[in-house]
Formats: sequence, C-alpha cells, structure tokens
Amino acid sequence: MIKIQIITLFPEMIEGVLSSSMLFKASNLGIVSYQLINLRQYGKGPRKQVDDTPYGGGDGMLLMVEPLVKAIEVAKLNDPSAKVLLPTPRGKQYKQSEAKQLAALDSGLIVVCPRYEGYDERITNWVDQAYCIGPYVLTGGEIPAMVIIDSVVRLLPGVLGGEKSIEIESFVADDQQVEFPQYTRPENFKGYKVPEVLLSGHHQQIKEWRSQK
Ligand code: ADE
Repeated sequence: MIKIQIITLFPEMIEGVLSSSMLFKASNLGIVSYQLINLRQYGKGPRKQVDDTPYGGGDGMLLMVEPLVKAIEVAKLNDPSAKVLLPTPRGKQYKQSEAKQLAALDSGLIVVCPRYEGYDERITNWVDQAYCIGPYVLTGGEIPAMVIIDSVVRLLPGVLGGEKSIEIESFVADDQQVEFPQYTRPENFKGYKVPEVLLSGHHQQIKEWRSQK
C-alpha cells in the first residue's frame, strides 16, 4: 500500500477529489492510502500563523519555513522513506515520464501545497523534487498536487482494472500520449457519423486507422 500524504491549508479542496472515482477506488482497494495534513495546525502562536512578510520587502506574504518543516517532519515520521514533492511554477516540468517514475518507486509520497504569493525558499532543503505542471500560474499547489497524484495513482497496478488502456498508451512515445478518437452508440448523432472503418469489423484496418490517428 502506497501512502500519499498531502500538506495543505485547504484540505477541503482535495477531499472531494480523493473520495471520487478512480482515486477513491484505489484507496478502497487498499492500493493506496491518503492522509491530509492541515498545515494550520503547525502554525505559530495562538493565531496559528503560517505566513509572514518577505525579507527585503515586496508585496504579499510568504509561507514560513517552520510550519512547513514541522508538517513534513510529522509526515516523515508516518512514512520515513516517502519522497517529498513540491508543486511550484519554478519546478521541473512534470510529464508522463515523471508519473511513471513515481508510480514505480513503490514508496510513499508527501506533497506539500504552497499558497499565497509563495514560500520561504529554505523549504526546498526538505524537498526531494519540485514540479511545475504547466506554463501558467495557479493560486496554490492543491490543484497541481491533485494532477500529480491522479497521474500516479492511475498507473498503480490494479487501479484501472482495464489495464489495456495503459497498455495502449505505452505504445506511444513517452510524453506524447495522444490517444485515438473513440465512439459509442448511436452510429449517427444529428448527422455526425461514426467513421465507417470502425463499423467494418476489419480488425487490421481498424488497427491501422487508430495508429494513423
Ligand atoms: N503552483 C502555481 N502554479 C503552478 C504550476 N503551474 N505548477 C505547479 N505548481 C504551481
């Protein structure tokens, strides 16, 4: 069982995703377990402060290193060999090949979700890998964390059931996994027809058509 721990100020953003569809199925089958760690509980002082103004000036607030490191240390106690991931626009470009590597690791993951305008850079000393999920900036790490977790969990043995769909993908070059278009009933919908070849029953022709697409 792979343990995935997520450190976040907004566990409610993530709960729905983890308790639906394939991610839920994976935990239900005991292939993976999820634990949400609310960063707020490691905040400083009676107000559980987690952010502060940047040294050198500038707009906005940064997540402080202490609460983040405390949360990571707690997660590490739960799972000492877990890899710590940090979604950030300044990270390494996240690709399908990274998802495959993470799925093959067979060790737990701790995903730290930054928020606000950023974080104290010293946090990176506790991080194994920083990832950027694409050339755009989101409001925080929760959505990138979900992207990473979804892409990894679906690759774990037993999760997709129809392992065929992974097999099909693996034919294609690693980071260019374009699937062929597929159709189901009805054959004709408002004049939009299913390609003839798919109705032909010629398996060889269908195979060729799909690989062309
Ligand atoms: N946080 C904000 N934007 C991000 C991105 N594109 N990738 C990863 N983390 C992020």
